[in-house]
Amino acid sequence: MREKYRKNTIRFLVIFLSVLVLIFIMIFSIACSGFEDIKSYLSYAVKENLEMKTGSTGLDNRKIDYNMEGKEIMLPQPKLESESSLEEALAKRRSIRSFSSKELSLDELSQLLWAAQGITREDTGYRTSPSAGALYPLELFLLKSDGAYHYVPDGHKMLKISSEDLRLPLVQGVVFQEFVSEAPVNIIITAIYERTTAKYGNRGVRYVHIEAGHCCQNILLQATSLGLGAVPVGAFDDSYIQKLLNLPSEYQPLYVIPVGYPKD
Ligand SMILES: Cc1cc2nc3c(=O)[nH]c(=O)nc-3n(C[C@H](O)[C@H](O)[C@H](O)COP(=O)(O)O)c2cc1C
Repeated sequence: MREKYRKNTIRFLVIFLSVLVLIFIMIFSIACSGFEDIKSYLSYAVKENLEMKTGSTGLDNRKIDYNMEGKEIMLPQPKLESESSLEEALAKRRSIRSFSSKELSLDELSQLLWAAQGITREDTGYRTSPSAGALYPLELFLLKSDGAYHYVPDGHKMLKISSEDLRLPLVQGVVFQEFVSEAPVNIIITAIYERTTAKYGNRGVRYVHIEAGHCCQNILLQATSLGLGAVPVGAFDDSYIQKLLNLPSEYQPLYVIPVGYPKD
């Protein structure tokens, strides 16, 4: 009798647990398909919104060519003196998110890029920003109305990689922070981690992030000193930015910095 009772209890428990597992699986799969629906609806809404605002579908129709011939732009020599002091720049720097449409001159671009990653000692290749082991993992890109460029510190020049204005599709990549399309220039700091982790292992990841901070702050202070406004943007979709610039997979975007004359 007791044995029969024990068997029945076990049978009941097994059936009960199986039903529970079934219910859990059903609820889980319904929830997942719901999330998928929401996800695809959101991406559709985001695309539609961008099309309405910019007439562009974001990543479509881009022409990025890292081997564009004859598109090397030599930058003017940076100035090593200015009328504003470092202390003034530190005191005045503020995140600016509203820009006039006035383009930046080549002198101003040169100064910003030099402040970011310019070479300050020809014999060693040392730069304005410090770098762990002088391994320089950062690579900078510029988005302007007349195209996209890659900054090359050696020789202080820019290589044109696209003749298209990628600032509008950039809006979608930075969670619709629309001011990026108003700014005449967006500087994108990317990093190749391997350059630093090859020597420092996992700790190198930390070093790369610290270096992006150094580089960004140099840009922000130089912008302030030139009477320009800028803001460091960290909220963006990494893979979108990678696709936008057709970056090789090892280039990881770390910062987007719109720069321009502040709108009064
Ligand atoms: C890592 C980091 C990420 C940031 N990301 C954004 C961003 O995505 N969008 C934005 O408008 N500001 C961004 N900011 C700017 C901060 O909002 C800003 O620095 C803060 O409000 C302080 O204002 P201040 O820069 O004028 O001193 C970011 C700042 C940092 C340091």
